[in-house]
Amino acid sequence: METEQTDNERQLKELCRRRLSARRLILASNRGPIEYYFTENGELRFRRGSGGVVTALSSLSRYVEIDWIASAMGRGDREIAQRAEGKHFKAPLDDDNLYLRFLVFPRSTYHKYYSIICNPLLWFLQHYMWNSPTTPNIDIVTHDAWDNGYVPVNQAFAKAIVEESMSSELPPIVILNDYHLYLAAAYVRRQLPDVVIQHFTHIPWPSLSYWQLLPSSMRQAIFESLCAADIVGLQTVRDVYNFLRCCESSLDKAKVDYEQHTVNIEDRLIQVKAYPISIDVVGLKKLTSSTRLKEYEAKLRPLCGEQTIVRVDRAEPSKNITRGLRAFDKLLERYPEFRGKVKFIAFLVPTRSHLRPYQRYMQRVTELIETINSKYATEEWYPIDLFYENNYVQAIAGMRLYDAFLVNAVIDGMNLVAKEGPTVNDRDGVLILSETVGACDQLGQHALTVAPADLEGTTQALYTALTMPLDERKKRASALKKSIEAEDITDWLLHLLGDAVNLAEERSAKAT
Ligand code: G6P
Repeated sequence: METEQTDNERQLKELCRRRLSARRLILASNRGPIEYYFTENGELRFRRGSGGVVTALSSLSRYVEIDWIASAMGRGDREIAQRAEGKHFKAPLDDDNLYLRFLVFPRSTYHKYYSIICNPLLWFLQHYMWNSPTTPNIDIVTHDAWDNGYVPVNQAFAKAIVEESMSSELPPIVILNDYHLYLAAAYVRRQLPDVVIQHFTHIPWPSLSYWQLLPSSMRQAIFESLCAADIVGLQTVRDVYNFLRCCESSLDKAKVDYEQHTVNIEDRLIQVKAYPISIDVVGLKKLTSSTRLKEYEAKLRPLCGEQTIVRVDRAEPSKNITRGLRAFDKLLERYPEFRGKVKFIAFLVPTRSHLRPYQRYMQRVTELIETINSKYATEEWYPIDLFYENNYVQAIAGMRLYDAFLVNAVIDGMNLVAKEGPTVNDRDGVLILSETVGACDQLGQHALTVAPADLEGTTQALYTALTMPLDERKKRASALKKSIEAEDITDWLLHLLGDAVNLAEERSAKAT
């Protein structure tokens, strides 16, 4: 496996060096790889951005120079963007390959785009999180947010992409990311007819009937724009079929081939492909041997019990945090022998915390933790610790220490935490994995799988994990590590970039 991974890396380096050197690689995502923030005494610092897009794509600059265009999300990003006078600048990282450009939007435009359309509307829709008899209510405010938020932000991204592409010797390759940028492909295509555009959606692609909760004007614009890309990348084959079905039913001129996974619209052929995303195993291993990580590990160790359950998530309703806590409550209630011995440590990263559903959810999470803690606490022991902060290194340190790792999301495109945990864990810990996350296709056979709403099943899975014989734990943990190493981020990048480069070269050859 080790050899195969090295081989991937070598191939990726080769691909970037030989076939990408004359083309710019332009990446666009709403959240950038790093975020700037002000400390309490007014110093401007930066830290890694949160979430799957950043986790997956950050390693890319190790292989090739990239221009990464992102929104300025907070005061720190805005300040840096202003200092750079809206142009791209070299990111202050170890490698020299990352150029960052932050786009600054008027606050009300950004609010409409991010806080009304992207989250909650699209995010909730794609995670099946609406309670359809009562929500969503797509009123005039939503329509206004679409017209005066989502549309102009996508146009601005497209404009910046077109500007960045001017410095490319050969037509660049553009990789658009996620639900924030569904309309960008169409705007870029209008100005750069020959450029290769790939759009990768990191979250699930639901079935047509769920998309139909959206007005057809919005739905249609999304599907049409994605079909202005050359390659539509999704996490799983399930997502691919759902996407093809959406195109077939909603786009008049689309001819869908379910065997080849393509959509034909007039003279254009769009490839729709599953690229199950992964993590940077090499980078992560390097991090686990760093002094900083070891310091966090030493700080966390005293909080552990004889056995420790860990979860790591953005503080996000789709992650199913409350059901996980309730299952732990049931475990302590039913099996009193665990009291005083088993600890639960939750590392939750604040996200979208100005949105009411997120605030309410986090309130429920903290109340539940307080209730469970007061129900079982003794003089010497209490069951749950919560860390609520964006501290990636600390969360990775936490993953080193688990005996059971709980990933019970309601639904997730992939869930990269499920791959990070087994990679860094040091205790042959057991992975408890929701059947409805993308990662389950690959890792399910070595994990204890649960249906996300099944409280009883989750309680039983916790019990099974904590009482599992050591040799079975070892067997599962090592199988997980091997499987993740064999298909790490270099594998994903090779497929994704390889397809884009092949297409770009074909197109250039035809043009000459
Ligand atoms: C998920 C999404 C990303 C998003 C991240 C963090 O991983 O797929 O596109 O950036 O969550 O969400 P936030 O709204 O905090 O940027």
